[in-house]
Amino acid sequence: MRAIDLARRPEPSEKLAFLRGFLRSPSSVGSVIPSSRFLERRIIHSAGIGSARVVVELGPGTGGTTRAILAALGPQAKLLCIERDPWFAEGLGLIDDRRLIVHRGDAVDFATTLADHGWSSPDTVISGIPFSTLPRSLCRQIAERIAHGLTPGGCFVAYQFRPHVTGFFTPLLGEHETSDLELRNVPPMRVYRWRKNGGIDGCRK
Ligand SMILES: C[S@@+](CC[C@H](N)C(=O)[O-])C[C@H]1O[C@@H](n2cnc3c(N)ncnc32)[C@H](O)[C@@H]1O
Repeated sequence: MRAIDLARRPEPSEKLAFLRGFLRSPSSVGSVIPSSRFLERRIIHSAGIGSARVVVELGPGTGGTTRAILAALGPQAKLLCIERDPWFAEGLGLIDDRRLIVHRGDAVDFATTLADHGWSSPDTVISGIPFSTLPRSLCRQIAERIAHGLTPGGCFVAYQFRPHVTGFFTPLLGEHETSDLELRNVPPMRVYRWRKNGGIDGCRK
């Protein structure tokens, strides 16, 4: 496993691309600058990426979190990124890594997207989707599809400014295992982790 490059800061061009994305769709992008390297490190640690095999990232944006995942991911593991903004998806396509597939589409189509790529249930799902600003009905559908699609024992990690995500996932996956606050990010974010313990009705510990 390679160490995350803590010296890596988003390039000015990456920050500008992110800001443009926010201006295109504020409720969908949710913040004005990409995640800090400190938040990236916390996400990677929480998800235990070094031992993950099949990883899905929802809402990779300009790809800072994607590069951090790839830096920590094992050589035989694979990563599918699902991003609905076409400009962000195009930029992600420039990341040259044989373990990575970039899919332009909506997280709500999680199951069909996995099937289209011939993938089995992921053991890890990481989400940057802002569950506090998207329509509630969409959030509910996305949560149901992730909870169904995740392999039993797999984990779901979401980094969020507000706690709305718990209202969608706790009824499906039970209480979160961890929720760590990262202050060195604008805005400060909490990294939540749930673990799926069984079928959708039997997930609670
Ligand atoms: C807060 S940004 C996170 C970007 C990046 N991962 C980071 O940490 O810097 C949220 C991202 O989720 C994407 N997004 C929002 N709703 C989505 C959906 N339903 N399906 C796929 N991507 C979505 C947005 O386009 C945006 O790129």
